[in-house]
Amino acid sequence: MKVLVLGSGAGGGFPQWNCNCRLCAGQRQGVLDACARTQSSIAVSADGESWVLLNASPDIGQQIRSHPQLHPRHGLRDTPIKAVVLMDAQIDHVAGLLGLREGPRIDLYATPCVFEDLTTSFPVLGVLEHYCGTRWHMLAVAGTQTRIDFGVAGFPSLRFTAVAIPGKAPPYSPHRREQTVGDNIALLIEDLQGGRRLFYAPGLAEVGPEELRWMHDADCLLLDGTFWTEDEMRHAGLGTRSASDMGHLPQTGTGPRAGMVDALLATPAGRKVLTHINNSNPILDAASAQRQLLERHGIEVAYDGMEISL
Ligand code: MLT
Ligand code: MN
Ligand code: ZN
Repeated sequence: MKVLVLGSGAGGGFPQWNCNCRLCAGQRQGVLDACARTQSSIAVSADGESWVLLNASPDIGQQIRSHPQLHPRHGLRDTPIKAVVLMDAQIDHVAGLLGLREGPRIDLYATPCVFEDLTTSFPVLGVLEHYCGTRWHMLAVAGTQTRIDFGVAGFPSLRFTAVAIPGKAPPYSPHRREQTVGDNIALLIEDLQGGRRLFYAPGLAEVGPEELRWMHDADCLLLDGTFWTEDEMRHAGLGTRSASDMGHLPQTGTGPRAGMVDALLATPAGRKVLTHINNSNPILDAASAQRQLLERHGIEVAYDGMEISL
């Protein structure tokens, strides 16, 4: 299985267009050892020919342009992107669907909650009906059904499992204040040929016993790296919302609540990678003490263009 990190930043990317914080300004001025990051998405392939997108970032045009694997190959109009699977209905994960409107009908895999948000409060799918349209593949994660195995047409050697995880629905969702099963999923993807497994969760609010079990099953973890601390937005004067308000488990724990680093240390995966990194997170600076701490623990920080072979 091949994994391409198309975008490793959180909503807004890095540097964020309107942000003059130490990290964003430092990146623009070239005084930090930090690369720019587009908004969160990855592509996965079994053969390097056909790709499935996990999330569709608002930066999708730039992401496709900078990855030759995703360029058209055969005939006048063509794309090796065969399907899109959505983890949630957040802008940074779905707005890129609009950027695919010139192509064929999009084979779209998502939960009922996500289809609901994308046809009501953020009606991207209705808009797309006037362009390429979408073909719905319902991932039955809802109510008491918290996991589902599924296949994606065109990827016979990959087995996907969607798992309900703790997180937050988008601000415009009717579920924002009351989490509903299916608002946020993680994916376990197994390559049936080599038996290797990827666990992908760019938005994860909590690592409980369930999540730890899934993480234990994976050879490679690609997980929520949004925030270093619970209150870093507030401390940097960038906003009032905490990591938990936004549905993200910070890398550092507070009080009895363990952080993402503790969770990663408790898992045996050969590769542990953080992605969906917010522009406030000090790990963006490769020379930071926080980054060095991650390195000591064998935890990697995803970057745009990172390729993982499993
Ligand atoms: C989030 O995951 O909380 C988002 O990155 C927020 C956003 O897209 O603005
Ligand atoms: Mn996000
Ligand atoms: Zn900033």
